[in-house]
Amino acid sequence: MLILDEKKIRKGRPLGLPYQGSKKKISKKIIEIIKQNFGTDKMIYDVFGGGGAITAECLLSGLSVHYNDLDKDATDMFVKIISEDRDYLKTLLVSREEFLTIRDKDDKTVDDNLKLLINSFGNKNNTYLYGKEHADIKYRLAVEIVERHDVFSGYKQTDTWLRRYRELERLEQLERLEQLEQLQQLERLERLHITNLDYKSFSDVKDAVFYLDPPYENTKQYYKGDTFDSQSFYDWAYEMSKKNIVLVSSYEVSDDRFKCVYEFKTARSTMQGGIGGKCEKLFMVK
Ligand SMILES: C[S@@+](CC[C@H](N)C(=O)[O-])C[C@H]1O[C@@H](n2cnc3c(N)ncnc32)[C@H](O)[C@@H]1O
Repeated sequence: MLILDEKKIRKGRPLGLPYQGSKKKISKKIIEIIKQNFGTDKMIYDVFGGGGAITAECLLSGLSVHYNDLDKDATDMFVKIISEDRDYLKTLLVSREEFLTIRDKDDKTVDDNLKLLINSFGNKNNTYLYGKEHADIKYRLAVEIVERHDVFSGYKQTDTWLRRYRELERLEQLERLEQLEQLQQLERLERLHITNLDYKSFSDVKDAVFYLDPPYENTKQYYKGDTFDSQSFYDWAYEMSKKNIVLVSSYEVSDDRFKCVYEFKTARSTMQGGIGGKCEKLFMVK
């Protein structure tokens, strides 16, 4: 098993886009596990990088990282947020009507994709964040708070919120903008390499750490019409581990050449004794 001295985990909030399948909840632990077990001088390959939670944590910790995802929309969104300023974030707030128009566009720009990400329910880009009943009132309130008070966090202390809308509980749009604002603290982009390649393009790499977070087995995840072939992925990861440190992140790996080396126990998975309550794990070749 790998070790993790929890006292050394970075304090502060995790960074990353609110992306589907994001490893934001455990990204600080994952980077600390890599540092404590494998040192800090190897290049990290975040091959299925998605919303960039792992890449962001590498950059914050001073590790060199290669950020890859087959989906260029994901890496483009990450780069755009880091290279823009706070005022740009405010332009990402959109109404339900605008959201539906963008959703149905054939060719979406990076701005469009970010607007869908920030304003959709469950990060799936299909439905607007708020149900029809509250959609307009919450959107207008978010815009008013940003215009009058210029805050994302701390909106509950503004008189606009306190006087008029306490019964609405939360303004998720502003909370998401706050997450993106935290991502903007990343400036050390010179250590970042970005590509949009299939994972097999990295077959010649040696002496690196591969953090591999592929689509889960048996979930119908498609990328532009393709299903993900988990078995060929395991064959590739097995070969790669002859010349690199290879960590596969998943709930389960059905290939018995791999063993679990770390388990991220949540309150829920501990309570259920691991049965039924899935928890994320790291796997390595035996
Ligand atoms: C579980 S998500 C990764 C989430 C990411 N670790 C994060 O924290 O946001 C899996 C990612 O793999 C990408 N992907 C799917 N097939 C791929 C392939 N053949 N090569 C590289 N990336 C691929 C998907 O676009 C998706 O973003």
